[in-house]
Amino acid sequence: MPLPKLLITRRVYDSVFDSLSGVFDIQHNQDKDEPLSKSDLLRKLADKDYLLSTVVDRIDEEVLAAAPGLKCIASGAVGTNNIDLKACADRGIAVTNTPDVLTETTADFAWALLMATARRLTEAEQYLRQGQWKGWSFDQLSGVDVYGSTLGILGMGRIGSAIARRAQGFGMTVLYHNRRPANDEASARYVEKDALFKESDFVVLVVPYSPQTHHIVAAKELALMKTSACLVNIARGGVVDDKALVHALETGTIRAAGLDVFEGEPALDPGFLPLSNVVLTPHIASSTRATRGAMMQLAADNLLAHAQGRALLTQVA
Ligand code: DGY
Repeated sequence: MPLPKLLITRRVYDSVFDSLSGVFDIQHNQDKDEPLSKSDLLRKLADKDYLLSTVVDRIDEEVLAAAPGLKCIASGAVGTNNIDLKACADRGIAVTNTPDVLTETTADFAWALLMATARRLTEAEQYLRQGQWKGWSFDQLSGVDVYGSTLGILGMGRIGSAIARRAQGFGMTVLYHNRRPANDEASARYVEKDALFKESDFVVLVVPYSPQTHHIVAAKELALMKTSACLVNIARGGVVDDKALVHALETGTIRAAGLDVFEGEPALDPGFLPLSNVVLTPHIASSTRATRGAMMQLAADNLLAHAQGRALLTQVA
């Protein structure tokens, strides 16, 4: 019996690769690890039964139509906005994602951005590296306090809850807004979306991207925020209207922002680059060796389960 054919779009750790070899006939990207162009993806997927994809692979109707034998897509990410789930369901293609394994790591990173924006960390480091430090002074690079302040979380799922838990150690008041109130958030208070923006000193975005959350933070929401407030986005580019955010940071509508995701990434709005009040990182919130390894392995385990006739571990469609 020939082995089922699998395309792995990006490099995975050797241990993950090894767990799949012998079960699948694998076309991989272990050497170059370059993102596949749409035409490469269409060509390589044409004869495949299985796909291990990433957050940057756009799986739309055109891609699915080019792969008539595709049975299961294991995405190495928790967010699935890059995959047309309905089209997959219509074609009977199973889709899995990677919840839970990245929750704590991603929450840690939200805090890294929050602290960095509050205390002007990257700005201070550049000041030092550029030889501008001529000596100590009282008001040098003064930031804002995190301890005792108000944290607003937009999107109280697993990661939002993990961020909220960490806030207890900082003596913070925690507000959140969700499509519906979460029932296990004893230490966080549900508020309407406008109140979240008005009352918070730090607003952290953790909502999944969808047509409903496109530009959920635009000029109107930014104008509601305190001029001393910071915005942190670890959700998805497109959740924030980046043009409006650049303007808000330039004009002092809000104090600072910490951004791990961007509209149209890896390109980003050039307006961010000269601004010292924004901390910019390249979509690395879940990027620790252990967590990215766990994400890849969970994706691989889903493929193995499907190929071996077992129940999928984390199916989304
Ligand atoms: C996710 O899991 O959705 C992350 O954004 C991938 O880095």
